[in-house]
Amino acid sequence: MNFPKLFSPLQIGPYQLKHRVVLAPLTRMRAEKPSLAPRPLNAEYYAQRATSGGLLIAEASPVANTAFGSPGVPGIYSEAQIAGWRKVVDAVHAKDGIIFLQLWHVGRVSHSSFQPGGALPVSASAVAISSEFKASTADGKLVDYETPRALETAEIAGVVDAFRHAAKNALAAGFDGVEIHGANGYLLEQFLQSRSNLRTDRYGGSIENRARLLLEITQACTEVWGAGRVGVRLSPYGIANGSGEPDPMPLYTHVVQALNPLGLAYLHFIEPRSSGAGRAEVNWTNVPSAMVLFRPIWKGVLMTAGGFSGEAAEAAIAEGHADAVAFGRIFISNPDLPRRLQRGFPLTPYNRKTFYGGDAVGYTDYPEHNELAQA
Ligand SMILES: Cc1cc2nc3c(=O)[nH]c(=O)nc-3n(C[C@H](O)[C@H](O)[C@H](O)COP(=O)(O)O)c2cc1C
Repeated sequence: MNFPKLFSPLQIGPYQLKHRVVLAPLTRMRAEKPSLAPRPLNAEYYAQRATSGGLLIAEASPVANTAFGSPGVPGIYSEAQIAGWRKVVDAVHAKDGIIFLQLWHVGRVSHSSFQPGGALPVSASAVAISSEFKASTADGKLVDYETPRALETAEIAGVVDAFRHAAKNALAAGFDGVEIHGANGYLLEQFLQSRSNLRTDRYGGSIENRARLLLEITQACTEVWGAGRVGVRLSPYGIANGSGEPDPMPLYTHVVQALNPLGLAYLHFIEPRSSGAGRAEVNWTNVPSAMVLFRPIWKGVLMTAGGFSGEAAEAAIAEGHADAVAFGRIFISNPDLPRRLQRGFPLTPYNRKTFYGGDAVGYTDYPEHNELAQA
């Protein structure tokens, strides 16, 4: 048997994981349209990746109809979406899997064609993503990002409420917990970072103020779920979607220290070397390691993701840098990834062309390893 640390149990809040190979949150854009509710195909996909006592983090799901920036992603704000997610959750629970839902607001990483009434996307400030990056419109054209509308101070409580409501909906759908998407240049990171947040109210300026929205949302979600069933995802030193903090250490040290007393299920990093892996094959060199930098500061369970092989994940855990490792791209093409790693079986390569949108092709048709399928 390979990788004794990776395949040892881990307590996450009230759940005892039987192993530490986690499905990373992965946007796949295959929800039903126009309801944006998960459909049976999505339940099949997640059930294929479920293992007894294994943790899956379901894809980023917009908390409101203003929180979208791409087509076909499943929401978590309507009754139809709750019902669709319930089928996903039931299929995972039937295999004794554990499943959290990632709660998402894209902020300025959107286009007015996705917004109700064609309104401008919102953000911390009216700062557009640079023209090196392109927005995709609802009909699939690539265009420059628009300058978003800065949220009024009085509107911010509504954003917290949208996350609270989505957290309640996730509970109603039967999930085991929620993860707050504070990474990859989306709304919560737009508030955290100084280049996208030029506010002068209590949500901008100092590091404490920039961190306030993330902390208020985390607090709201823990009130719904209990802290042990809430995780937070961050991407310090990341550059996805035009993000990037000039001096990340003071900001992220504050955020991690402020999250410490809450007793969360886990803190989840995206390793900077894989920043932007959703859009292109990247492997940045000469970048720091998030787990190495923040392990000494974070007091709870630390999960990380980004370019891990089984060997690298085992080493990260053995060396004490992380407690669990989330796998993205290779879990897409290997539905039986935990068992393959454990048995030392070769991995099926992934096809980036089928990451986003479409149907079963490149989604539920990656085979199990022969010997595992027969087992
Ligand atoms: C197709 C695709 C979709 C992704 N969607 C999300 C997402 O919804 N939420 C998120 O936090 N990260 C998302 N990511 C980032 C992954 O969770 C992960 O951090 C990244 O792929 C690096 O891990 P890997 O090297 O194991 O793939 C996505 C990545 C890919 C490739």
